[in-house]
Amino acid sequence: MILSANEIFKSYGDFGVLAGVSFQIHEGEFVSIIGPNGAGKTTLINVLTGLLKPNNGKVFFKDHDITGIGPAKLSRLGMARSFQLVNIFPTFTVMEFIKLGVLSRQGKGARFYAILKRDREVNEEAEEVAQIFHLEDKRDVQAKNLPQGDKKLLDVASAFALRPEVILLDEPTSGVSTSEKNKIMEILIDASKKMGIKSIIQVEHDMDLVFGFSDRIIALHSGKVLADCTPAEMEKNEAAMCAVVGEKGCFKICSSLLE
Ligand SMILES: Nc1ncnc2c1ncn2[C@@H]1O[C@H](COP(=O)(O)OP(=O)(O)OP(=O)(O)O)[C@@H](O)[C@H]1O
Ligand SMILES: [Mg+2]
Repeated sequence: MILSANEIFKSYGDFGVLAGVSFQIHEGEFVSIIGPNGAGKTTLINVLTGLLKPNNGKVFFKDHDITGIGPAKLSRLGMARSFQLVNIFPTFTVMEFIKLGVLSRQGKGARFYAILKRDREVNEEAEEVAQIFHLEDKRDVQAKNLPQGDKKLLDVASAFALRPEVILLDEPTSGVSTSEKNKIMEILIDASKKMGIKSIIQVEHDMDLVFGFSDRIIALHSGKVLADCTPAEMEKNEAAMCAVVGEKGCFKICSSLLE
């Protein structure tokens, strides 16, 4: 077991979002968290990555209690997430973004001399990441001028550049076409193999991708884990399919249940 959530409760004021969420993630797993809009998926990612402190419950990463620890310490322990920074710093180029990831991992923010000294190393590493993510030909393009699919790839690439053991991605393919979604998923799975990522946890709305690529699916509903199983088992779980997948994947099942 590499990451575990234990009885997580999280409210915003009086508004309860997570009501006792528990699960474990193991090495080698690609896990998708699914659930309707507002189910608390992003809140859960924020709790899992120590950005948000839960009202109750604990998060453990490799035996460390990381509850509310914050992203900087977490990345030193070996966990990273995408932050959609591409939209926040639109004038950074592709290479600058990837180097930012490489530099943050090496803890170089504080010492300029060290950055200069090992500049070649940083460049080589950033180059490798750019190639793995098929972004090498766009190295000098500013993030704001990239097509949406490449923006998403760059977001993911800058998190991978931290060389984490576990990576969490909140909707890595949102806003891109169906054919591009598949490409992004394939690139990120290939990247995780090449870069030695042990587990990926993603939030994803596209059920074709969820069922096509995940080892395991965790379905969130009404603040609880409604199902935690393989895609094949999930397909047979009519209640979870109806509640979580909604009209898209289970229209027929829902209709037959209502008859
Ligand atoms: N900072 C906040 N303060 C108050 N309420 C919040 C805050 N963040 C989220 N919420 C509310 O908590 C609920 C869960 O939000 P969250 O963003 O975790 O859902 P989600 O499953 O990621 O949804 P989506 O699929 O739309 O991304 C929603 O009702 C949302 O409006
Ligand atoms: Mg969300």
